[in-house]
Amino acid sequence: MQIKNVVLSVSLAATAAALPAIESNTFNVITIHSGSNVQYASFNAAKSSIFAGLSSQNASCARPKEQIATFYLNNEALYLYDESATPQELYVDRSGMGQGKIGYTTGAQPAPMNAERVGWAIKDEHLQFAGSDLIACPNSIGGSWSIWASTGVAHPGGNSNCVGIAARAIETSTPNGCLYTQ
Ligand SMILES: *[C@@H]1O[C@H](CO)[C@@H](O)[C@H](O)[C@H]1NC(C)=O
Repeated sequence: MQIKNVVLSVSLAATAAALPAIESNTFNVITIHSGSNVQYASFNAAKSSIFAGLSSQNASCARPKEQIATFYLNNEALYLYDESATPQELYVDRSGMGQGKIGYTTGAQPAPMNAERVGWAIKDEHLQFAGSDLIACPNSIGGSWSIWASTGVAHPGGNSNCVGIAARAIETSTPNGCLYTQ
């Protein structure tokens, strides 16, 4: 009972200060697109971008052998999970230049011009931005797929053969804390 009260007051304090919520549920993401090579590939984070099917993230992790990214949501903002105080927060650039580019900033780094940080949600177990499913484009680093938000551009960033995916969020109670590369 007493412990419960402490946890509750800590989480209320965090909400009040608008800090990334340490109490939020952490999750990994796998892509679902039947009949495509990107079916059941895990989301990765590296070089301030999000990928699927990357064999090596080169992140600094509590469990270094694992090569998948761990996320959590707080007030429609999306973060990469770590135990350290350096937050890594995702953004989306839906401008004509960005075409739905998804990136992340590290620590106090400001979001780039036109970037939006708020608008993430999990709907029917699928991670979405601004109410839309995400897009995966092949032939990125190491044969992986780059992950984009949907802006009505079917093949963003000069890519070809992109496919719409369902980004299935899978909750994890043993999140691997990582600092991902910039
Ligand atoms: C990870 O490091 C290896 C070896 O330096 C490099 O070849 C590879 O491109 C890196 N991958 C990423 C995603 O940074």
